[in-house]
Amino acid sequence: MGHVKLHIPGPVEVSEKTFRAFCTPMIGHRSQAFKDLYAKIQPQLQELLYTKQLVYLSTSSAWGVMEAAIRNLVSRKVLNCMCGAFSDKWYDVAKRCGKEAEPLQVPWGSPIRAEQIDARLATGQFDALTLIHNETSTGVMSPVYEIAELKKKYPDVMFIVDAVSSMTAVKLEFDKLGIDVLLAGTQKAFALPPGMTVFVCSPAALAKAATMKDRGYYFDFVEFQKNAEQSMTPSTPSIGHVFALASKLEDIFQEGLEARFARHKKLAEMTRAWAAKHGFTLFPEAGFESVTLTCINNGAKPGGRVVDVPKLQKLVREQGFLIDGGYGKIKGTTFRISNMGDETEATMQQLYAALDNAMKQL
Ligand SMILES: Cc1ncc(COP(=O)(O)O)c(C=O)c1O
Repeated sequence: MGHVKLHIPGPVEVSEKTFRAFCTPMIGHRSQAFKDLYAKIQPQLQELLYTKQLVYLSTSSAWGVMEAAIRNLVSRKVLNCMCGAFSDKWYDVAKRCGKEAEPLQVPWGSPIRAEQIDARLATGQFDALTLIHNETSTGVMSPVYEIAELKKKYPDVMFIVDAVSSMTAVKLEFDKLGIDVLLAGTQKAFALPPGMTVFVCSPAALAKAATMKDRGYYFDFVEFQKNAEQSMTPSTPSIGHVFALASKLEDIFQEGLEARFARHKKLAEMTRAWAAKHGFTLFPEAGFESVTLTCINNGAKPGGRVVDVPKLQKLVREQGFLIDGGYGKIKGTTFRISNMGDETEATMQQLYAALDNAMKQL
């Protein structure tokens, strides 16, 4: 059997055009050619993230920068908003970095709400807050605009936001929202291969980082800023990724940001409709469903249809598509379908046809 098309929530399918760009012959990372390449994409990255700050490129998956944000910015105590596998893990990572950390845990399937954060930040104990905008394990999107508005009451608290599975698919206005660190790995809605993280820091985050003694070198935000000012990265980056990113940014701006955001929303609605048609319910609380993936309830919550997920996956795979069988403690009692990256109504219809066919055989 040939390639099985990825409809798992990352890595996602990578286009031929992107792969060709990735395979551009190598250049030196201190060469003028590299500086020209980074300088060319910098304004596009700034437009994508609605920021005047320099956008950085880290050769690491998202966790590199997620851990770095803790090491660069937490001196007193971090409040970790937890609503699924990745956001729960961030608390664990903060403690492994030797930091004081406190969980703000809500049940999986629920979003994080501004008032919950307000109650904790009001204690005055915290100098940092972590939030996962789109919790990929549960398919829940937390109301980041509402939270950002509340966070403005606490200007000294560093606001660290993971947009790993929402960046490029949802409007995230970095400067306006008052976020201090915003990051995403490239293997999700960017539809690039895994191995690079795009991120941006506020002037306040850079000032705070400069005061932190044990922030290390490889992920030192101050080094990223100094180098980005010269259109470079602190160490040798995955240059193939930078070529691929340049190609993808061409695609993104050719489509238009608003059209890209609308496309993701529409495709997620189509997947929700497919689930409803087959009697399934959704795992996320109503009104907080992700627009990049759909987490379908398969017994994790009362109500709705329950099927043999491994069998469904197998039947769909035989038709050339890979869907996800659930993540962490809701593996098997949910399943997930991604629509992020380059998917269109036509490509999603092909997937639904394969899913329909599989459902008939269950
Ligand atoms: C929301 C979110 N944050 C963080 C991560 C971790 O990313 P990585 O494994 O690429 O470091 C993931 C991975 O799926 C994710 O979905």
